[in-house]
Amino acid sequence: MSCFLFMGQKLKLFVCTKGKHCKKRGAKKILCALLDSLETFGLEDKVCLKKSDCLGKCGRGPAVQVMPRDEYYGNFEADDCEDFVKALKKKGKPPKGLLLGH
Ligand code: FES
Repeated sequence: MSCFLFMGQKLKLFVCTKGKHCKKRGAKKILCALLDSLETFGLEDKVCLKKSDCLGKCGRGPAVQVMPRDEYYGNFEADDCEDFVKALKKKGKPPKGLLLGH
C-alpha cells in the first residue's frame, strides 16, 4: 500500500494560512516551500496541499495538520519543508521539533 494512502484515503496537508498568528510567522512561505518540496519529490499528485483556517496550534505556528493521520506539526521554517516531505514519503520521523501531537 502506498504511504500516501491512510485507510484508503489520500494524504492531505492543511497549512494554517488564514489564522493571524501563522500568517505573521510566514505561513504562506511554508505553503510555497511545501509545494516546491512535493514537486521536487514528484508527489504533487499524491498529496493534497490545502490552505486552512486556524488549527488551534497558534503558539507553535506555522502549523500543519496531516489528515487522515490526524497529526499536527508546527514551528516550521522554510528549510524544514524538504525534510518534512521526505519523512512523509518514507513514513519516517519528521524533522526534530516539528511534531506537535495528534
Ligand atoms: S493561527 Fe495558525 S494555528 Fe492558529
